[in-house]
Amino acid sequence: MTQDEMKKAAAWAALEFVEDDSIVGVGTGSTVNHFIDALGSIKDRIKGAVSSSEASTERLKELGIEVYDLNSVASFSVYVDGADEINARNHMIKGGGAALTREKIVAAVADKFVCIIDNTKEVDVLGKFPLPVEVIPMARSYVARELVKLGGDPVYREGVVTDNGNVILDVHNMQITDPVATEEQINAIVGVVTNGLFAARGADHVIIGTPEGAKQR
Ligand code: A5P
Repeated sequence: MTQDEMKKAAAWAALEFVEDDSIVGVGTGSTVNHFIDALGSIKDRIKGAVSSSEASTERLKELGIEVYDLNSVASFSVYVDGADEINARNHMIKGGGAALTREKIVAAVADKFVCIIDNTKEVDVLGKFPLPVEVIPMARSYVARELVKLGGDPVYREGVVTDNGNVILDVHNMQITDPVATEEQINAIVGVVTNGLFAARGADHVIIGTPEGAKQR
């Protein structure tokens, strides 16, 4: 099985968490694109979706799935999204696709976070994948200096502007042994919108695509 086939297996397995007549929280990325296709196959059974990016919104609409403004939805049961890395405690690094802030907001409203990954995303210690940090543009250099003080090596993601009009610093060379503390520490830097650690609110269910098919843990 290719990596993409493993992503697809995990994504389609997530349909079991989708309740009839519900609004579904939808993340962003190549694994989620398979999930959106899967949702398209049951679109008459669901009410619609709330989306974490312009890219996912466009794809959902193309399939005829209604996309609701998050402000008009008080609660919903399931948010499905991928991850760049996940540890055994279901803490994640996300934001490889620069959608981390909206992802964190939509995840915060959902009752359950279902993480869909291929088996290359599981790690013992987070940080090999550079940690994305969304930053207000005028604060970029200041935030970068503060990240260096924390032991990281921030790199400006050239040419990328987030859906919120901000920029991304990818922090290399961090061994994140206490993800909850690091998430809080980085978010406390003035000018940071949010960082890609999803630890305070991790995943509730993980579906892993493997060469033997989708497995849950
Ligand atoms: C998007 O900003 C990310 O958080 C994605 O969820 C993450 O990068 C996983 O992406 P893939 O499913 O493309 O690996």
